[in-house]
Amino acid sequence: MTIRYLFIVTSTLLLTFLSTCDKTRVLKPEGLIISEGFKNPVGFYNSKPTFSWILPVSEQIKSQSAYQIVVATSKSNLPDNPDLWDSEKQESSKSTFVKYQGKELKSRQKVFWQVRFWNQDENASEWSEINSFELGLLNNNDWQAKWAGLDTAKDSIKGVRKFLMHRPQYLRKGFELSSDVVSARLYITAKGVFDVYLNGKDVSDDVMTPGWTPYNHRIETLTYDVSDFLETGNNAIAVELASGWHSGRISRRTALYDNFLSPKILCQLEVVMKDGSKQTIISDESWKGTTNGPIRLAGIYDGEVYDANFEMPNWNTATFDDSNWELVEVETISKDVKLAPKRHLTVKNQLVLTDVEIVSVDENSAVFNLKQNMVGVPKVKVPMKKDDTLKIRFSEMLLSDGTFYTKNYRSAKSTDYYIAVSDGIIEYTPKFTFHGFQFLELSGYDKNAKPDASWVQGIAQHSNFEKNGTFTSSHDKLNQLQSNITWGLRDNFFDIPTDCPQRDERLGWTGDAQVIAPTSLFNYDVHAFWTAWLQSLRENQSEHKDGMVPFIVPDVLQTKNGSSGWGDAAVIIPWDIYNATGDITVLEESYESAKKWVGYYQSKVKDKTYIPIMHSFGDWLQPYPSKTGKGGNRGDTPKELIHTAFFAHSAHLVSKIASVLGKTEDEKKYKKLYNTIASAFENEFFDGNGRLTGEIQTQTSYLLAIHFDLLKPETKIKAQKHLLEEIKNADYHLGTGFLGTPILPKVLDDMGEIDMMYKILFKETYPSWFYSINQGATTMWERWNSYSKADGYNPQPMNSLNHYAYGAIGEWMYERIAGIASLEPGYKKIRIAPIPNTEFLRSASASVKTPYGKASSSWVIEDDSFNLDVVIPPNTTAEIHIPNATQNNLLVNGNALKEASNLKLIRSDNNTLKLLAEPGSYNIQTKL
Ligand code: BGC
Repeated sequence: MTIRYLFIVTSTLLLTFLSTCDKTRVLKPEGLIISEGFKNPVGFYNSKPTFSWILPVSEQIKSQSAYQIVVATSKSNLPDNPDLWDSEKQESSKSTFVKYQGKELKSRQKVFWQVRFWNQDENASEWSEINSFELGLLNNNDWQAKWAGLDTAKDSIKGVRKFLMHRPQYLRKGFELSSDVVSARLYITAKGVFDVYLNGKDVSDDVMTPGWTPYNHRIETLTYDVSDFLETGNNAIAVELASGWHSGRISRRTALYDNFLSPKILCQLEVVMKDGSKQTIISDESWKGTTNGPIRLAGIYDGEVYDANFEMPNWNTATFDDSNWELVEVETISKDVKLAPKRHLTVKNQLVLTDVEIVSVDENSAVFNLKQNMVGVPKVKVPMKKDDTLKIRFSEMLLSDGTFYTKNYRSAKSTDYYIAVSDGIIEYTPKFTFHGFQFLELSGYDKNAKPDASWVQGIAQHSNFEKNGTFTSSHDKLNQLQSNITWGLRDNFFDIPTDCPQRDERLGWTGDAQVIAPTSLFNYDVHAFWTAWLQSLRENQSEHKDGMVPFIVPDVLQTKNGSSGWGDAAVIIPWDIYNATGDITVLEESYESAKKWVGYYQSKVKDKTYIPIMHSFGDWLQPYPSKTGKGGNRGDTPKELIHTAFFAHSAHLVSKIASVLGKTEDEKKYKKLYNTIASAFENEFFDGNGRLTGEIQTQTSYLLAIHFDLLKPETKIKAQKHLLEEIKNADYHLGTGFLGTPILPKVLDDMGEIDMMYKILFKETYPSWFYSINQGATTMWERWNSYSKADGYNPQPMNSLNHYAYGAIGEWMYERIAGIASLEPGYKKIRIAPIPNTEFLRSASASVKTPYGKASSSWVIEDDSFNLDVVIPPNTTAEIHIPNATQNNLLVNGNALKEASNLKLIRSDNNTLKLLAEPGSYNIQTKL
């Protein structure tokens, strides 16, 4: 009997004992959230939220037979007087994303709710804790404030490549409050990025707010509960404001939407007094401002300049004399740009890297290594002499002579400066920029001081989502790969999903987003992060009558074309989110947009029926040089093949989405379209032997055809053989770029070629995942050979060392190495199907916070036995697949299978036993 088994027996006995104490008492629901994962939000964006809860883990609770939600205007009304909504008892197992159907909710409204459920035996739970949400300002006409700021365009500075830069602004307003404050809300946003203070105190630790949306359509607003920041009498509100994405250099342009118009803030402070009166302080023409503050310049690509000589003590408090500051200019709110509460969490400081090492010191400078390629800002604490300038440079890796490799930043200067006002130790963290770096060089510090590792720390920043999953195994390099994937994800989830975080790009490339979405949903709770970005995608798409989805979102490139494999993000990502979360809202929101994207393909069909002629980035960054010599970064997979494959795939997904939404006509229509495109695809690109008709064979051509199900069954079998041939020709290396890589494991898996996939994944030579790890990667690289010990850096300037696309293998690591997948949307049914490979691994383990609670799958090979621990959360079921097992050699929690309650054999094929499991914890053992 193993220790694990003993543990299970003891905990089961304990639970049984507890539950017999009171047969009918059922524990209350937990983990209450609204919509895409919000817990008690203030300033919420949606007046029609959904409600979700989790059933507690208990012997008594297998599933939910009914639920009741009550919603009220005050806490004391619950549960008996739900004056907004009483769902009444609903016979349903639905415990996620239940739609609010009560009275209409308005801006600023605070709402309280609670829920209870009935278990499988019809026993009612206690009511949950009372949760709440408060709406933000939902409409433009909720705002009395005006956009306010200084005209910084007129005094602009020439920056990199003569791009103009605005001086950051310091804005303030003193005001008096007549009595004590009961509560206060600050509604605020900016065209630019801001940090706001009340009476000298920083209102929040949010970073680079309001974040990045297509500002010509929508600007997100923030809401802060500032009840504790105010006092009777004199108060002051003060804002630091810089260009950010709105008015700064981003992509190839300067200030896209506003033709280099100056940054502005919009804020409305609404205060409720003890005497019941209300006072509202708004941004208007009475505000004062200056550009003579310490942050002299700040840009996303180029860094920040801070001059302590310009510090203005107490500038953000009520006592400050601003009589020589300028009055601001104002602009009224336009109807065309929607002001909407931010629909996902802001960027925040997430982690401080303190394990720093000094790499080298010379007479002028010192180089520090943070031992992890990261994104964010440094915190420096350095001795300086008055008027000296500390220069802070960054790089992701070093050149062989120990100097900085910065060619891959391209034109991004990515350098911060600090000018000291006196002798002594300065502390500095830049505010309105971010960098992608592992190494940092300081120069300009006090030469009498000896550089010390404690001078530097790294503050890693990303959007504020929680961890959702864990993956680990017995193999160090596989674990390093998981670490590289998750760092790469966090580093590039900086308010929007970006391609890279360091060079003069950092844009929301749709193709990269499309390939990484499933892996990201395993690792982080990025439901709201993605749905927020999809809204931006739809807004940019709406600029194009033909349904075109731009290459990047927000579309600062003002793209003229759509690209196959990139614009499909409009269809693929909503579908992935639905499968991971079970939330139908994302499909409802994205449905028209998805259809329009398919319409775009249709509009590009010219001479050959169903074969669109359009733009494509191809199988971007295919590892081997193009055999035609023409492919370049786009690889050798023919463009038309890629267009047609994705056209068919998106049409297919639209038909599936239509089916979920109950749109039967559309379901049939798009299914038919998909079938027709598929047969046109086969005729055009494949011969009767399942071989590509074009001269050049690529892995990706076969992968797309097979994975998107575009071939007749008999052709498919033949095509699979050609795919294997291609892989063999590459000596079992992948030959795929961004589009082919995520589907390679799925196709080989479906073909039963698991060992081959393991072989490819565990390759150490170029091109492979472990190759870059062998060269020292701590994040995913843009190219498999962005750097090699033998040849140095890839000579291409497009050579990011933090690009998440190839991290898409992470999905397969969860689903098949450790073995957890969502079999029915949102893990209502879970598949536990690990495929251990004894050549490379002794163990693997993953856990996922599903919408129903935590699920996990953990296996280890001990001597000649395969040992699997599984946890299945309440209100779900699971299929557990045990490879190489028979009924007779299987033990469940130490007993023979037939004695196991809650676990039944469904069938056994090809040596794999398929079991149906109810919620619970299981230990399953089989002989190898
Ligand atoms: C980006 C990519 C992107 C590509 C489009 C690059 O500059 O970094 O990741 O998908 O352009 O081809």
